[in-house]
Amino acid sequence: MNLEGKRILLGVSGSIAAYKSADIASQLGKSGADVHAALTANAAQFVGVPTFRALTRNPVLTDTFEEPDTKRIAHIELAQSADLVLVAPATANILAKMAHGIADDMLTTCLLATPQSTPLLVAPAMNTQMWLHPATSENLRILQARGVQVIPPGSGLLACQDVGEGKLAEVSEIVAAVMATLGTAQTLAGHHLLITAGATREPLDPVRFLTNRSSGKMGYALAQEAIRRGATVTLVSGITNLPPPHKANLVRVETAEQMLKACLEALPSVTGIIASAAVADYRPLQVADHKLKKREGEEEVVLRLAKNPDVIAELGRRKRPEQRSIGFAAETQDLLANATRKIAAKNLDLIVVNDVLKEGAGFDVDTNIVTLVWRDGKRNALPKMTKAEVSRHILDAYSELPRWRGQF
Ligand SMILES: Cc1cc2nc3c(=O)[nH]c(=O)nc-3n(C[C@H](O)[C@H](O)[C@H](O)COP(=O)(O)O)c2cc1C
Repeated sequence: MNLEGKRILLGVSGSIAAYKSADIASQLGKSGADVHAALTANAAQFVGVPTFRALTRNPVLTDTFEEPDTKRIAHIELAQSADLVLVAPATANILAKMAHGIADDMLTTCLLATPQSTPLLVAPAMNTQMWLHPATSENLRILQARGVQVIPPGSGLLACQDVGEGKLAEVSEIVAAVMATLGTAQTLAGHHLLITAGATREPLDPVRFLTNRSSGKMGYALAQEAIRRGATVTLVSGITNLPPPHKANLVRVETAEQMLKACLEALPSVTGIIASAAVADYRPLQVADHKLKKREGEEEVVLRLAKNPDVIAELGRRKRPEQRSIGFAAETQDLLANATRKIAAKNLDLIVVNDVLKEGAGFDVDTNIVTLVWRDGKRNALPKMTKAEVSRHILDAYSELPRWRGQF
């Protein structure tokens, strides 16, 4: 993709991975972007200002009070003229400052002066304990709720010799995320998608429930991407720990019955449905209104279950012909035969099949390995990729569904 005419503010903070941001600056510049680097004082301990000046051919900002042009206030000028802001690597410290609006150096002042409408991406890099610290998780949650896009770190051998999560995402992945954000055409403008996500939770008594391993990551990634493409999104979400995507109309539900009710309420006003929630097929037949007690001498108990409504099949029955619908199938055997049967049974246009037993696929991981299967039998087996990338493939396919073109 050509980034000609795009101005990018590249924030670099004091991580051992700061040297990689020189490569990011170089690659973005080679793609035509006008890159302006802003380094924290600690970043400048790791990598030299002249490196960024040479790679970007622009002044490098480090000090709020050092104004290269006396007619302009550099941090305001740059923050307001950037098409995109990327902080890579983002330290635990800068994430905390961003989450709490602290502006005590050039980079953080630029970040606070950046309009809310400018896409802001962060690529965290840190020691695993810092990454897993509740303070960091909470700061990321705050930032994501504000619309900041997080390019998640990978796992591997870290500079501190620990092996674990916290390694800066690959440079190619960071550059691709920038390209995807700047290159996103508003192909879904005027559309309203109903997206379901997460696991349902079926109560047994006031403290116990039946649920499944779905994290909601796939559905939330779809919602995020659809919003970036200009769609209005109603996100009917079961149980997840994820922050809601910025600008999504979030409807939180717990049980399959609540999910169906919320979906049916949204159905008349949407142009399409993507059902990625993992809905329980059965629920406890009786829900006790007090905590069930262990009984003396009772070595086995029988749990009677009642069938839940099939949310996607019900939506398929009631939807108007012009409303497109995409379902998900988490299978462990006979993947494609089951998928083809479900397309017909649930009146879908496309089904996304994942073999949840494969490593890196399915529940509670950041990647997925899926095959898209169309109504006419056409298939596209995608390699392992992040759920954000999978969501781009799914929404591309959604936009190209045959009967969909020119409908709205
Ligand atoms: C060798 C070394 C490597 C470091 N790597 C990281 C890192 O990868 N991530 C991080 O959050 N902090 C790292 N730190 C700590 C930060 O530099 C420190 O928290 C600093 O205050 C961050 O400042 P800044 O966010 O303003 O750049 C490292 C420190 C040292 C000395």
